[in-house]
Amino acid sequence: MNQHVIVNADITRGTINRNIYGHFAEHLGRCIYEGLWVGEDSPIPNTQGIRNDVLEALRELRIPVLRWPGGCFADEYHWKDGIGPREQRKRMVNTHWGGIVESNHFGTHEFLLLCELLGCEPYIAGNVGSGTVQEMSEWVEYLTFEGESPMAELRRQNGRDTPWTVKYFGIGNENWGCGGHMRPEYYADLFRQYRTYVRNYGSNRMYKIACGPNIDDYLWMETVMKNAHRFMDAISIHYYTIPGDFWLGKGAATGFPDEEWGITIRKAWFMDELITKHGAIMDRYDPERRIGMIVDEWGTWFDVEPGTNPGFLYQQNTIRDALVAGITLNIFHTHCDRVVMANIAQLVNVLQAVILTEGERMILTPTYHVFNMYKVHQDARLVDTHTLPEGSDDETKEHPTFSVSTSTKAPGRLNISLCNADPQASTEVRLEVRGLNASALRVTGTVLSADVKDAHNTFDAPDTVEPRVFDDFTIEGSMIRATLPRMSVTVLEVSAN
Ligand code: AHR
Repeated sequence: MNQHVIVNADITRGTINRNIYGHFAEHLGRCIYEGLWVGEDSPIPNTQGIRNDVLEALRELRIPVLRWPGGCFADEYHWKDGIGPREQRKRMVNTHWGGIVESNHFGTHEFLLLCELLGCEPYIAGNVGSGTVQEMSEWVEYLTFEGESPMAELRRQNGRDTPWTVKYFGIGNENWGCGGHMRPEYYADLFRQYRTYVRNYGSNRMYKIACGPNIDDYLWMETVMKNAHRFMDAISIHYYTIPGDFWLGKGAATGFPDEEWGITIRKAWFMDELITKHGAIMDRYDPERRIGMIVDEWGTWFDVEPGTNPGFLYQQNTIRDALVAGITLNIFHTHCDRVVMANIAQLVNVLQAVILTEGERMILTPTYHVFNMYKVHQDARLVDTHTLPEGSDDETKEHPTFSVSTSTKAPGRLNISLCNADPQASTEVRLEVRGLNASALRVTGTVLSADVKDAHNTFDAPDTVEPRVFDDFTIEGSMIRATLPRMSVTVLEVSAN
């Protein structure tokens, strides 16, 4: 299938918030423990307990924001269990995820250290489901109050004199499900109550995020917006790409049947419809678009790897995941007037992770490479880009296999991300770049592609899927003709000065 793309380099349509490139780390499986935290006494090289190899790889991604401690875990987390001398911290059961012992060795101080080391902003999810208003309010005081108060004093006793800057605060997680099985009317009232005591101390300004709907629960969005929109800065939505059925079998991460490729890509595109429809509801209550939409859980969700703990949600990551990431990030760009943050689930060893670890070994997944290639879009201006369908089979297609997004950070410069999700054939793209000096057009490119649908990296073959230089293009005046390999994600850097 050929594609004709018009890029109007001189027309921009908003800013791609860098927080769209956010991540999520939950106390689940081997995400926090082993994936990030190994402890100061570990033989694995670490910085104050956080493993160095993972830190170094994550720094490269320029992660803007990290959500913690859950997930479902958030509504059972009592933050005071995770402060003070580690050996005295309460050991508890992680009832949601595998019933294993949670040592609480990774708590508030360790999370904020991780954020400092990564240079990213913290996004803390507070406990509404099983916590009290007082508990949430004291956490905020502990985190951000500078003066004399019981919580500020407690923080000082635990070795931190100055408060942290914490902007993003979630009032509960999935309160329609694991966070309390609430009705939207009830949650909306609780949101109004809890958020009242999430105080702004000193110069710290809290950005209060309401728990939004599961997937296409438009009634939840409608009800929470109607009853609480005046009190929120943002509302979340959660959507996972699952080829099969959540309860009956999600589908395998590798070795999946051919048809699951197409199903997965189609389901990834569903994000576009969800944002559009939820956004339309938000528009009715917030026509000025003051309230942000935050997709604070998204990504693929497959059956766990054979032989692993079902509660650990450990899955491999293939070129199919890379396409889901590339297409979804392009969708977020398109909606950058409403989507202000997104957090892929999850950072290490859980669901669509960018990094997998095994003891002291670590690998980068195809999804990691997409985030690394796409980071050029962070805080860039979205450039007006149109795809003109060519060929005759377009209307019969179940889902688009082609996705494109363009951004700019400086005059005369563009970054264009292109996905070809066709598993069989390459795609010829004619990119007509208008509004740039055609005689000075220069292009470089990077591509991530594979020959088999479940190509992935392993601990013994860590570089099977990795980016390479892309040079399969020609330039004629303002026209760039590129051949995108099947199953590929490409980023072109265009300059004309
Ligand atoms: O990311 C895994 C789980 O998915 C989270 O804990 C929960 O919020 C969602 O259902």
